[in-house]
Amino acid sequence: MNRRDRIKAVADKIKQSTKRDGDEGGFRVVVTGKGGAGKTTTVAMLSYLFVQAGFNVLAVDEDPQMNLPYALGIPPGESDRIVPLSRNLDYIEEKVGARPGEGWGLMLTLNPDVSDVVDRFGVRTPVGVNLLVMGTVVQAATGCLCPENALLDAVVRYINLRKGEVILMDTQAGVEHFGRALAKGFKQAVLITDPTFNSIKVVKHSAHLAKEIGIPYIHLLINRVRSERDIQKVKDTLGETLSLFSDVFELPYEERLLEYEPNIIPMFSHDERWPLLREVRRLQETLQRYGELTPG
Ligand SMILES: Nc1ncnc2c1ncn2[C@@H]1O[C@H](COP(=O)(O)OP(=O)(O)O)[C@@H](O)[C@H]1O
Ligand SMILES: [Mg+2]
Repeated sequence: MNRRDRIKAVADKIKQSTKRDGDEGGFRVVVTGKGGAGKTTTVAMLSYLFVQAGFNVLAVDEDPQMNLPYALGIPPGESDRIVPLSRNLDYIEEKVGARPGEGWGLMLTLNPDVSDVVDRFGVRTPVGVNLLVMGTVVQAATGCLCPENALLDAVVRYINLRKGEVILMDTQAGVEHFGRALAKGFKQAVLITDPTFNSIKVVKHSAHLAKEIGIPYIHLLINRVRSERDIQKVKDTLGETLSLFSDVFELPYEERLLEYEPNIIPMFSHDERWPLLREVRRLQETLQRYGELTPG
């Protein structure tokens, strides 16, 4: 079996053994939008705020470019601490018994929680966010990372969230991810756009997909707002799609953000005086409110 088939087999095996009865204590939020819209920055800020609010946070980086670890303050020099899930293949295969002739491994007999999975495959960032990454930049050029994606999806689905736990998923650019099983179990989506036509179009498409899949709460985040006109442009372009959103959030363009690249955590020493941070706080509180409203 080649490597891709092996990854696929492991993902299938995990999927088969995941029996979710629907209700779990915590909740899941998927963040999507066009490349550069602000997904990684937003997921990093939300992760920090959820930790501050007392949550056990699992941030998942689905993007093969793997920006999220650095946004959350892992020093680029320590990037070797971050082992992509798919590179643990031997270990996972052994644990799930996906190799021919092997029995069920330890992993699948457990009712895995966040710490089980993070202890084995993840890292903890300096501010206490648990982090799971999918893959590598190297493979990105070769096209579809379908097996790797499937493996990450399976592992993320497999986790059983307790009360006070939240999964925040930073997706790749584009919309196709909603079409996959990934979105199942995600009760909330944050769709991010900036005021450019192409970015708005991606969000428009995603909103309808999210609706079709049955995600109950879809939030719109308009990013890089410089004027009322920007907001109006987004709303006009969205037209009737606007009615699909539970809430609308507006993040101002913040020039100082550039100084906090890639690590955005020190930004919070501004004590949330920045309008940007205040609005992200409002988003975090809203996600928490809806999340606690509907179990799992
Ligand atoms: N509100 C904002 N004001 C100014 N710059 C922003 C804002 N939001 C994001 N950026 C910047 O835009 C770039 C892309 O953001 P990022 O979060 O990496 O997007 P994505 O993950 O969607 O590709 C980053 O350099 C980030 O600092
Ligand atoms: Mg990103």
